[in-house]
Amino acid sequence: MSAILNKITVTPSGAALGADIEGLDLNIPLDQHTRSEIMDAWHSHLVLRFRGQHLTDESFVKFGRGFGELDLPYSSIAGKPRRPGLPEMTVISNIVENGKPLGGLGNFEAAWHTDMSFRESPPTASLLYAIEIPPSGGDTWFSNMYLAYETLPESLKKRVEGKMCKHDHTYNSSGRLREGMTENQDPRTSPGAIHPIVRTHPVTRKKALYLGRRLNGYILGMELSESDALLDELWAHLSRKELTWTQKWSVGDLLVWDNQCTVHYRESFDNNTRRLLRRLQVKGTKPY
Ligand code: OGA
Ligand code: MN
Repeated sequence: MSAILNKITVTPSGAALGADIEGLDLNIPLDQHTRSEIMDAWHSHLVLRFRGQHLTDESFVKFGRGFGELDLPYSSIAGKPRRPGLPEMTVISNIVENGKPLGGLGNFEAAWHTDMSFRESPPTASLLYAIEIPPSGGDTWFSNMYLAYETLPESLKKRVEGKMCKHDHTYNSSGRLREGMTENQDPRTSPGAIHPIVRTHPVTRKKALYLGRRLNGYILGMELSESDALLDELWAHLSRKELTWTQKWSVGDLLVWDNQCTVHYRESFDNNTRRLLRRLQVKGTKPY
């Protein structure tokens, strides 16, 4: 007996990346055909959005597993598991209850970054599912790192060819000290992973610019001032508006992005309003 096939619609955002997938209630398990359609759309559009979902935590985790083995949380506020039975699920929120933050990132601006690239094997994908969203602020911007590489002026392409970059572990994307770290403003000596600036996506085989976050980044083998100047140029290039798409959140939105070929930025928002999202992360492999 053949399974009932879901019928999905893929609507590209019209910007440099991002697409909406319509026609699915993600509480219902996906058939193989639909799953592979979703993976194809994901590899083409880099960020997928599923709107109007009413997911149980279990459905969210099951859907996330479709993208690969899930990561166990990194130990920080954001990394505290939300439910004992679902250790992979964490929370992004500014809400404080009984003196305890419900999740990570607060209401702060999170500078352009890719998730956890200070690890040797950073996550392949991250998923966010919106439960409460403030009336304004807190938009999340994404930039297409394939396009960032392709549109790099030839002179810059030459300068980054074969170069490796230190992805600092000391500070998070709000510029705050990570748990267990000590202040260190010298990126040449700070702890972190070293990755190629131009990486090859393991599935699409396309080349992408790969940078973690500007703060405390360092290009190996350069004078610090030379590295700083080149990193400034690269970050200015990759955050140009024409390479980006902006997610304006609604309750029930589920987003999944590819950390191997995108970076993202989150706006701050009024801390008197509430923002609450559930989060998953998919295990990745060493960039090459
Ligand atoms: C993240 C992140 C952005 C947001 O969860 O990795 O950067 O919109 N979140 O909260
Ligand atoms: Mn992030």
